[in-house]
Amino acid sequence: MTEKPDDICTRPEWPTASPTDPLVAPLQPSTVYRCASPEEAAGLLSGELPGYVYSRDGHPNAAQLAAKGAELHGTERATVTGSGMAALALAMLSQLNAGDHVLVSHALYGRSLRLFTTQGPRLGLTTSVVDTSDLAAVKKAIQPTTRMIVVETISNPLLRVADIGALAEIAHANGAQLLVDNSLASPVVCRPADFGAELVMESIT
Ligand SMILES: Cc1ncc(COP(=O)(O)O)c(C=O)c1O
Repeated sequence: MTEKPDDICTRPEWPTASPTDPLVAPLQPSTVYRCASPEEAAGLLSGELPGYVYSRDGHPNAAQLAAKGAELHGTERATVTGSGMAALALAMLSQLNAGDHVLVSHALYGRSLRLFTTQGPRLGLTTSVVDTSDLAAVKKAIQPTTRMIVVETISNPLLRVADIGALAEIAHANGAQLLVDNSLASPVVCRPADFGAELVMESIT
């Protein structure tokens, strides 16, 4: 049967295999991936088989970037989001439950402070805004329900430097996690996980 132009144009074409690899990792904009069989699709979707199905769940370039992030920070895992604010929202949604208390630094980037203080309560979280350079004030603000302390390594825009090790100790003594926004420092200057932070985020916008 003669193929119609519509059939030819929509069929994905693949470059001929080359004996050499490109020096720069290729960008892979595909949203969906072809599966060999329904069984393979089921295995991929359930996570039993490694591989990609749909780019929101994972795609090769995000995996490369996450692997670099984990290596740079010496962490077990890393994940990639669309922006720094998305990363903070992800940490909030994935790690906290209604009824939890969050202690946030008063020197946080404005939008981060707003995320926790205006959106947190809507989700049933309570928030205390504290000068986290004052460790006595941090200890005093801890509540039995405190599950997270949020600080920036070097704050934006006031450039306050956090004592990550001391804050991690306070958090852990109370069963809380320490989330450090390391955007202004970068892993070249500081690796917060080395000082006890469970969660580290970088805005690379
Ligand atoms: C310290 C800090 N954290 C978080 C953000 C938010 O990151 P994004 O703009 O990638 O959402 C910014 C943005 O300027 C920032 O400076």
